[in-house]
Amino acid sequence: MNQTVERPIILTGDRPTGQLHLGHFVGSLRTRVGLQDSHQQYILLADTQALTDNADNVEKVQRNIFQVALDYLAVGIDPSKTTICVQSCLPALFELTSYYMNFVTVARLERNPTIKSEIQMRGFERDIPAGFLCYPVSQAADITAFKATVVPVGEDQIPMIEQTNELIRRVNRQIGQDILPECKALLSNVGRLPGFDGKAKMSKSLGNTIVLDASDKDIKKAVNAMYTDPNHLRIEDPGQVEGNIVFTYLDAFDPDKEEVEALKAYYRRGGLGDGTVKKRLEGVLKDLIAPIRERRNELAKDPGYVMDVLREGTEQSRRLTQQTLEEVKAGLGLFRF
Ligand code: TRP
Repeated sequence: MNQTVERPIILTGDRPTGQLHLGHFVGSLRTRVGLQDSHQQYILLADTQALTDNADNVEKVQRNIFQVALDYLAVGIDPSKTTICVQSCLPALFELTSYYMNFVTVARLERNPTIKSEIQMRGFERDIPAGFLCYPVSQAADITAFKATVVPVGEDQIPMIEQTNELIRRVNRQIGQDILPECKALLSNVGRLPGFDGKAKMSKSLGNTIVLDASDKDIKKAVNAMYTDPNHLRIEDPGQVEGNIVFTYLDAFDPDKEEVEALKAYYRRGGLGDGTVKKRLEGVLKDLIAPIRERRNELAKDPGYVMDVLREGTEQSRRLTQQTLEEVKAGLGLFRF
């Protein structure tokens, strides 16, 4: 790899609250694997952020750092190209958070639409952990500490990027110099993958996910449980493709797009049974997951290797983030003993 050419810096991250699933695969993992050559990519295992709504679940969060790292490596994130690091082991992030906290108002935090809906979803009402309300500030610290200019995220994270750029402008103005580069969101072009029950997005708490080491049996079960067109009662009837989860998944995963279009036309005309379409999807998912599952199982047998990847990535990130912190402190005119 040519290290002399400066590649744009990417920061992305996940809260390690559970194993990753096919929703993550289409939404972010696939993109990350594709970006690791053209970009300098950092992936943050955001365990501290996960604690903002899991304060009493530290053990779960720490255990899942390893699980998510396995997922990354199994899908093809290459640690010689991409740096994977653990948030709680990067103190510079939290020092930056402290300084940034003074450049944002409580009212602004409460107006953040993502935070608003997350507060509702979690039923916090008047008992919002302060750390939760402030996590957009901490996320701004993450992004700026790495001087990332590209942040691949889902729709729901757009307000975080806006708030990050507001903070960047305020801090730069205070310092009197553009030390922190602004960032832009890189939206994945696929929408949210619905859960296999078709009711909502894939989420562990809804029990409608297909994990990346799902067995052939799990895959079969999930595909069989998928909603199709409720009005497609007999094979000869014309069927509807829109909102038909089996086709949504074929669109997301079947490498043969032409064949999928042909199947859609056939289904719409009538004569194509749900069972046949499901069989195809089952095959597609098995082909996709089998090699990931195998790699994941192999890696799981060598936890020392996975830990080394995390340790080295974190050490490298510590140097980088510490350097940004020093620049910000110097810019703000703080003591640096
Ligand atoms: N908020 C992100 C999520 O819930 C995780 C995250 C933390 C992140 N810090 C980040 C994403 C910095 C991008 C950049 O998935």
